[in-house]
Amino acid sequence: MIPLSEPMLGELESKYVQECIDSGWVSSAGPFVSRLEEWARTRFAAAGAVAVASGTAALHIALLLAGVRPGDEVLVPTLTFIAPAYAVRYVGAHPVFLDADPLYWQLDPSALATFLDDSCDAESGRLVNRSSGRPVTAVLPVNVLGHPCDMDRIVGLAHDRGLVVVEDATESLGSLYKERPAGLLADIGCLSLNGNKIVTAGGGGLIIVRDEGQARRAAYLTTQAKHDPLEYVHTELGYNYRLTNLQAALGLAQVERLDEFVLARRSIAARYAQALSQVPGIEFMPEASWATTNRWLSAIRIDQAEYGRDSRWLMRRLATEGVQTRPLWQPLHRSPAFETRDPQRQWVADRLNRDALCLPSSASLTWGDQARLIESITALRGARD
Ligand SMILES: Cc1ncc(COP(=O)(O)O)c(C=O)c1O
Repeated sequence: MIPLSEPMLGELESKYVQECIDSGWVSSAGPFVSRLEEWARTRFAAAGAVAVASGTAALHIALLLAGVRPGDEVLVPTLTFIAPAYAVRYVGAHPVFLDADPLYWQLDPSALATFLDDSCDAESGRLVNRSSGRPVTAVLPVNVLGHPCDMDRIVGLAHDRGLVVVEDATESLGSLYKERPAGLLADIGCLSLNGNKIVTAGGGGLIIVRDEGQARRAAYLTTQAKHDPLEYVHTELGYNYRLTNLQAALGLAQVERLDEFVLARRSIAARYAQALSQVPGIEFMPEASWATTNRWLSAIRIDQAEYGRDSRWLMRRLATEGVQTRPLWQPLHRSPAFETRDPQRQWVADRLNRDALCLPSSASLTWGDQARLIESITALRGARD
């Protein structure tokens, strides 16, 4: 089986995890948690970084830090894994879905501008969605498949209207936008250390902030909001979102190898791009001029008319050869979890969902396996069952 994305673990990971076991510090405090946070603070030149149990938890807390309140609306791309939209619901707010741009598959700044200009009114210093009557308070762009959004445009549009921008950089650790690292391109950034990501702590996440007060508040909220930690006095709702020292040990070893993994995944992407550009009907996911993507997942877009087969057929066929591929997520405007269907509208995200397929992208993918896979994709053009 050639998996889509698997972790690459080695001696450094064993060493740090063993140190953790030897010291007895395996639970929710310990030096590796601090070292991981310090690594992130330095890497992003941030005021602070707080390690948490998952990327989803990071998003939840980031929205609280952003001041999003129950009944608000938050603008989210429709083409993403569902976690950011869930996080919006966790704070009692409502996601409003915006389309993807057809070139780079990210939240389309033009769709954002159109929504802000045509669907919202400024009312007593706040922005209100005319059709729902709810305040719009934040934008939550996602760097889909690791490729950074056009964040300057998104942040510019949002800040002009007083909206906060929380960057979902969970897939884009190691990517650059105009030479700046994805993760702190907006007001607050969120990372994931889940097992399928470019680096892993087994599970985990990081909140990256520009303000020390926010770092303190994030640490407080994620450790059960202990107002008086000795007498256990609590004055508001807190969460047990801590990352364990054991996970942080694994995570630190992995982030210290991040550049190695980015290089490996970018080389894999370059080989796919080069070889598959020869196959009519296959387009490799392009990289914008402003982006150096970590190529967390390499992806192709299939033109059924030219390739002769659709993405799901190719996915099933490759599975019979032991190759795991995966379509993009069901666009959230069609998700049964959210009731926002608008059957009249033509979404770019629907076309991308129909046509795109993610290919095996693990840093450990061998050139031999990749060459065989490229050969299959090439040979299967126009194939019969
Ligand atoms: C875009 C996006 N946001 C959030 C998450 C949530 O991260 P986690 O699985 O660490 O909770 C993921 C991945 O799982 C993701 O792909």
